Amino acid sequence: MSSDINRSWRMTGFGLPRLELAEGRIPEPGPHDLLVRIKAISLNYKDRMIVDGVLIPDLGFPFVPTSDAVGEVVAVGGDVSRFRTGQRVLGHVIADWPDGDAPPVLHHHTLGSSLPGTLSDYLLLHEDAAVLAPPSLSDAEASTLPIAALTAWFAMAEATRPVPGQTILIQGTGGVSLFALQFAHAFGLRAIVTSSSDGKLEWAKTLGAWQVINYRARPAWDEAARELTGGAGVNHILEMVGGDNARRSLDALAADGRLSIIGLLGSMELSFPIVPFLRNRIVVQGISIGHRRAFERMNQAIEALAIKPVIDKIFGFDEVPRAFEHLEKGPFGKIVITTA
Ligand SMILES: NC(=O)c1ccc[n+]([C@@H]2O[C@H](COP(=O)([O-])OP(=O)(O)OC[C@H]3O[C@@H](n4cnc5c(N)ncnc54)[C@H](OP(=O)(O)O)[C@@H]3O)[C@@H](O)[C@H]2O)c1
Repeated sequence: MSSDINRSWRMTGFGLPRLELAEGRIPEPGPHDLLVRIKAISLNYKDRMIVDGVLIPDLGFPFVPTSDAVGEVVAVGGDVSRFRTGQRVLGHVIADWPDGDAPPVLHHHTLGSSLPGTLSDYLLLHEDAAVLAPPSLSDAEASTLPIAALTAWFAMAEATRPVPGQTILIQGTGGVSLFALQFAHAFGLRAIVTSSSDGKLEWAKTLGAWQVINYRARPAWDEAARELTGGAGVNHILEMVGGDNARRSLDALAADGRLSIIGLLGSMELSFPIVPFLRNRIVVQGISIGHRRAFERMNQAIEALAIKPVIDKIFGFDEVPRAFEHLEKGPFGKIVITTA
């Protein structure tokens, strides 16, 4: 790659065939910007939804998709104080949420949706929208953290606090779910993992799953979860699917149970009966990735707990359409694209 060219994958319309490789100039950092030479990018389920026009139907073109990236700071604006050149950083996806309560209008400044995405050789990040990458992780591993890991972490360690010995049910074996499983194991939670594949459930056991349920073989997985918990139900469920699946989640929850609404793999809607909320004092929390302080705390924990992200497959920068296609196959863990 020539050092003065910035390659980017740009959407010129909706649909994977309209994701095109283009060359442009390397951007100039503003006073508070970091110019980051990107090393690795990781894909999330929502990136495919954006490319397909499902998530942001009024997107303007051309548009560079994806939100997760790690890279080296190669230049800084004159007023930057938080970072210096040579440091390895991760972009913080909700750029205007440093800590505490969310900004009044969430997602006005979100990488890869309201802000341009990361699928380029070079990226400008505001210094307030970056964190140091955990030193123990490779570039490919570190690139997987900004959305999938932080979402799982926020649901389990920020929106609530983990209580060792309690049960958590994690749906599927995608990016968010495998981070949730690794955190659960590290926190001393008893994790029940559901999957459509017995093979993936065996892998989940090697990552610390306490019990597993094949939701294809046992569609009434809520009953299986109750049986596994001696009839008590599960303390916390990470809802990844929506639709009727959420009704089963409600059925599987214990008294004072918590339902973290994270994914929409099956439906854009939820429909619930009311009585179980009253009978079991269920808490429902919508999760929207997380703030920067949580990202920093999580990275510290990843170092201390020696957690290694699970990568399904790594693609080269010229293989981006194949990487997006692979996302459709139900990966076990994360898909990464390297720029080298
Ligand atoms: N709220 C937030 O802030 C936030 C952040 C990140 C992601 N998300 C959402 O969370 C969901 C997961 O994202 P991801 O990036 O982890 O996706 P992913 O890596 O593409 O995960 C896909 C996996 O989900 C599982 N799955 C699909 N249908 C399922 C079902 N009916 N029941 C249980 N599992 C099912 C499958 O696991 P098996 O192959 O094992 O069956 C599949 O491999 C998406 O809807 C995404 O948009 C939300």
